[in-house]
Amino acid sequence: MGNEIFVKPASTTSAAAGASIRISRLEKRFGPVFAVDGVNLDIAAGEFIALLGPSGSGKTTILMSVAGFEFPTSGTIQVDSEDLTYVPSNRRNLGMVFQNYTLFPHMTILDNVAFPLKMRGLPKAERHARAEAALATVRLGGYGSRRPNELSGGQQQRVALARAIVYQPRVLLMDEPLSALDKNLREDMQLEIKRLHAELGITVIFVTHDQSEALTMADRIAVLKDGKIQQIGPARELYERPANLFTAGFVGEMNFVDVTVESVGDLVSVRLPWGETWQLPPTAAVDAATVGEAAVMAVRPERLRLGTGAAGQVVKVTLSDIVYAGAAMLLIGRLPDGTELRARIPGASQLDALAPGDVATFTVPGEAILLYRGTRR
Ligand SMILES: Nc1ncnc2c1ncn2[C@@H]1O[C@H](COP(=O)(O)OP(=O)(O)O)[C@@H](O)[C@H]1O
Ligand SMILES: [Mg+2]
Repeated sequence: MGNEIFVKPASTTSAAAGASIRISRLEKRFGPVFAVDGVNLDIAAGEFIALLGPSGSGKTTILMSVAGFEFPTSGTIQVDSEDLTYVPSNRRNLGMVFQNYTLFPHMTILDNVAFPLKMRGLPKAERHARAEAALATVRLGGYGSRRPNELSGGQQQRVALARAIVYQPRVLLMDEPLSALDKNLREDMQLEIKRLHAELGITVIFVTHDQSEALTMADRIAVLKDGKIQQIGPARELYERPANLFTAGFVGEMNFVDVTVESVGDLVSVRLPWGETWQLPPTAAVDAATVGEAAVMAVRPERLRLGTGAAGQVVKVTLSDIVYAGAAMLLIGRLPDGTELRARIPGASQLDALAPGDVATFTVPGEAILLYRGTRR
């Protein structure tokens, strides 16, 4: 391949501009399976995007298509306005980190990191200087002479990261890079990758099935199901106003109650399974509530208020579990029809009197309620 990618200065710590990426009408079929089914995604230069979805939703296939390890059935992939859809992966100059960060066990850490530069024909002195700089960027300066088996899992993953950025790619693609690490290490690495992103100004596509990881790390999140994007937006938007029932259930913790829509006007009137009718503000109806049809009412556990002090709808819940959960108490119980309800209530003292079997009264503020078409049954 050409040498044009090496004209930039060797420092890996200077802010290198990331590339913009445009994925248009991307489709990938494996026999009868639509792994990716009409995905459109515009990623700004320097943006950190997470692809979030359950196993089999098409995340890896999208990433592999951007990387050039898979060619789509149809659609296009542009990087900085250049159509790369059918350009081989080794001509794309994109960095990649996978879940299984396979380092070469017989090579030193420095040679592992320098390997992509060797493949590109750089002289040894420059390779080593760049590899040292990349190791310093992931805070592993001084580890170059060790072998992979002398490093912890987290350190090995940082080496894989250094190897992916050593040739200053415009884009860093990561496929569940932290899922093999334990929780504390994973959280440290999440911050480390965010720091690296800010420092390098590189565009990142980060694949994960872990919604909290996506919420923590990404500027924007694309939620995927069955090869289709369900919603794209910043964490807060996804969390506060999920666009459909799938996203509402996949991102964060949510209570659901099946209801029937009775009327739609200045207020939306819904009948609950235990026969009561509630009047909801029209903002509650997220995706079309049609009169006479089944709908699902959703509310976050932390939006419920204990007692009847606040404005909103009142429900009686028979408690089954009262769990001390640090910053808040988790109360689990059943609504009059048996539907489970979870509430997270800050401040433990007011809950001291409650015990399993008690009936507790909660207030559900109208603005906390979201209404979706469909059913959970
Ligand atoms: N090489 C392949 N051959 C056949 N089916 C595949 C292949 N790769 C992926 N699939 C199928 O495509 C769908 C999406 O897979 P994938 O992109 O790996 O999802 P994810 O990364 O979200 O778990 C799945 O149904 C998977 O079984
Ligand atoms: Mg995958």
